[in-house]
Amino acid sequence: MYNAIKSTLKNFCNMKKKIGIKSLLTALAVSALLTANAQNTNPFTIKVNDLKAPIQPTMWGVFFEDINMGADGGLYAEMVKNRSFEFANPLMGWKEQRQAGSNVLIVNRNVEHSPNPRFARVTVNSTKPFGLINEGFRGMGIKKDNGYDFSVWAAMQDGNSMTLKAELVSAKGDKLGSASVSVSGKEWKQYKVSFTANATEAKGKLNVWFEGKGVVDVDMISLFPQDTWKRRPGGLRADLVQLLADMKPGFIRFPGGCIVEGKDLVNRYQWKKSVGKVEDREVIVNRWNMEFAHKPTPDYYQSFGLGFFEYFQMSEDIGAEPLPILNCGMACQFNTAEVVATDQLDPYIQDALDLIEFANGNTDSKWGKLRADMGHPKPFNLKLMGIGNENWGPQYIERVKIFTKAIKDKYPNVGLVNSSGTDQAGERFDYLNGELRKMNADIIDEHYYRDPLWFRQNARRYDTYDPASSKVFAGEYAAQSKAIASTENRNSWICALSEAAFMTGLERNAGVVYMASYAPLFAHVDAWQWTPDLIWMDNLRSYGTPNYYVQKLFSLNKGSQVVPILLNNDVVAGQDSLFATASIDKSTNELLIKVVNTSDKDVTKQFIFEGVKKLDPKGLITLLKSDDLNKVNSLDEPKSVSPTESPLAVSGKKLDIVLPAYSMQVIKVKIIN
Ligand code: AHR
Repeated sequence: MYNAIKSTLKNFCNMKKKIGIKSLLTALAVSALLTANAQNTNPFTIKVNDLKAPIQPTMWGVFFEDINMGADGGLYAEMVKNRSFEFANPLMGWKEQRQAGSNVLIVNRNVEHSPNPRFARVTVNSTKPFGLINEGFRGMGIKKDNGYDFSVWAAMQDGNSMTLKAELVSAKGDKLGSASVSVSGKEWKQYKVSFTANATEAKGKLNVWFEGKGVVDVDMISLFPQDTWKRRPGGLRADLVQLLADMKPGFIRFPGGCIVEGKDLVNRYQWKKSVGKVEDREVIVNRWNMEFAHKPTPDYYQSFGLGFFEYFQMSEDIGAEPLPILNCGMACQFNTAEVVATDQLDPYIQDALDLIEFANGNTDSKWGKLRADMGHPKPFNLKLMGIGNENWGPQYIERVKIFTKAIKDKYPNVGLVNSSGTDQAGERFDYLNGELRKMNADIIDEHYYRDPLWFRQNARRYDTYDPASSKVFAGEYAAQSKAIASTENRNSWICALSEAAFMTGLERNAGVVYMASYAPLFAHVDAWQWTPDLIWMDNLRSYGTPNYYVQKLFSLNKGSQVVPILLNNDVVAGQDSLFATASIDKSTNELLIKVVNTSDKDVTKQFIFEGVKKLDPKGLITLLKSDDLNKVNSLDEPKSVSPTESPLAVSGKKLDIVLPAYSMQVIKVKIIN
């Protein structure tokens, strides 16, 4: 303060030399104002009993897409790549350890009609074993003392029996554990065996040794760790699901993203092909495999081992509403832009209706029975569904109308999410937004991949939306530090902080914005196509980015109803680089204030609580900050930017709180009435 007065005086003296008395008075007033701003003497007023919009339980969720090896090689814990020999090159991911007289042949049992037509026929005509070596997804992450479940479908073609030995080895060739099964009989059977690894290895491989003379057919050669999420055999990577569970997301959107649309219609995501027995799920190429010339990933396919049942189950496990997005009869408009003729949309619409039956139907209905057969007789209670991803143009509106009518006629209570295209503004957006609002769409999905400044400048975006009109799903957003889809984008603190600033505007407008999710969710450090991403992993480890911690803080502290937090009687949305939102959690009677300071200066602010009798003297501050705007987290330093908590002493109904430079804080105070 003293320094401020001193500098004001100095300015005053300098000015006095130059100007007359009237100008001097004006200058004094301006100077006083500037000083006031620099000091931030104007308080924040929180109107605790002025309850505004309810915050939807779905407000903060996650967006899952199989991009960056998010599913196969990521969340889906299968360690064998191309386990059923269905990649275009059937031995991609495999190497042969040849012996004279031994060989492998790929047999196609039914090119046209089988979901899993190929298998490998191995002939061993040597006393030495023949080997098939699988490289995994950029290696296999193996953990000391963890159990591993090996399984294979096999049938003897010639000879009585053969031994198949599964052996994990390190990159250097050290043996880390093994077990064998004995195959006999000509009919296809699944063989299973488990073993424990004796060391940890980041880039292991699986050797499958074929021992004994004969000819054996093999398919679905699989290896799973036993420490999966909830220790489900053939399940999901526990560390990754845990990171999601820790966020307590309100919903999980799946399976994308552009993967829903496919490069062409044949390549679109078809949920019916992702359910039932894993060996009957048809493998197709992942649309992201060659999308970016700078990041070719030719070995990127979709096994659908993580399919719609597993998405529903994971949503249920972590208390999130499932939000499936379905193809609307249009392939990706950046690729082929194929559309299905409107008079041939029926199978697509039937897929949507059947999905509701799969999720919610009785166990005596066709699709409800499948759900029960897969182990979940109870309904999944699906309430929301998306029609199309980033589709645009009149052809989208035409199709969405047909879908909406068919779905609402049968299931009027299922809420529908519609697309507003690829961008948050412009001709495409204006057209779709206008048409969808005319249709009274339930929820409109908006996407913005923009630079950090855009996020800081758009905290008021929803202040002018009509809460009586269609609701908004901020379905995909992420600040891009360099440029959209640039490989140089980083999950740096400036991006996360700018998103936090923007998100205050989403929460403040909870009457308009019902859902929001950062995108994409996962990326494998050795196999990504798109950056930035919320969570990064290798085959053993994973970490949340600064953006993850921003999402998590908003989600864990969302409260149930917005209350006004005002600066000079205006919302706090960028004045002096400050952003804020406040809410009440009715179940705990806590006041939750999120404040973001994007300036390079610490600011002390007074918070005045109106409309409340008393506050609990013990509050809590959670701080997320870094002085370095370029700071990122990493596998080696996963928590460089992560929240810290400290107690907050509250006395009376006014508080002075320091808002550190480049920080986000959550201030939690209990109301005592
Ligand atoms: O999140 C990556 C991609 O960005 C999504 O698949 C798509 O919807 C958007 O263009």
